[in-house]
Amino acid sequence: MPDQLVLDTVRPVHKLPVSARCARYCLAMTIRILGPNDVRLFREIRLAGLANDPRSFGSNHERESAFDDDAWATRLASFAGRPGVVFASEDPAGATGIAGIGLAEDPSLAMLWGMWVRPEARRSGVAGQLVLSSLAWARDRSVGTVTLTVYPHNTGAIELYRSLGFASENLPDSDDITMTKRI
Ligand SMILES: CC(C)(COP(=O)(O)OP(=O)(O)OC[C@H]1O[C@@H](n2cnc3c(N)ncnc32)[C@H](O)[C@@H]1OP(=O)(O)O)[C@@H](O)C(=O)NCCC(=O)NCCS
Repeated sequence: MPDQLVLDTVRPVHKLPVSARCARYCLAMTIRILGPNDVRLFREIRLAGLANDPRSFGSNHERESAFDDDAWATRLASFAGRPGVVFASEDPAGATGIAGIGLAEDPSLAMLWGMWVRPEARRSGVAGQLVLSSLAWARDRSVGTVTLTVYPHNTGAIELYRSLGFASENLPDSDDITMTKRI
């Protein structure tokens, strides 16, 4: 794999294969799981995503800007009452993106949600690294399949997930596309 490097520079959560292009940018990038002290950061970047890309998400800025600190802390620490985490990518200037993952009711299944990368950091491999970190988290919990939903018009995101091995399922009567990956 000539264009595959291993990201092991600044506090990586996992050793991740990255593209040569990403390697240049990612030297300054860290990926970490947000903790209880990151509520403000999580709120800021999630609301920025909802404001910047309202057509990408099932939720919206008006709804979530009304959440109090407890609600944000709960979302950071769990996924619908089950184990879940939010990963953030950061560079020296601050957080560049987030992605959440949590166990479904069937714990052999995990759901990826809330993927967002700041516009100025896009096409540098940030989302790819967030997905790979999320997959590693799921693998560590013996999850067999990771799933997500994406709107059909969101061709960039669909291409991202496809490039990482997710395949789409055609579900009847659904407005969005479900994509899954066996891990
Ligand atoms: C979709 C999104 C998360 C991608 O983030 P990113 O950091 O730019 O993605 P990456 O740089 O890791 O892209 C990896 C690969 O995914 C594909 N990809 C990513 N964005 C793409 C786009 N806009 N068009 C086509 N392909 C795209 C490419 O194959 C890319 O590899 P390449 O740059 O070498 O061609 C980002 O554009 C975003 O935050 N969009 C708004 C929110 C959103 O749609 N979230 C997903 C909700 S399901």
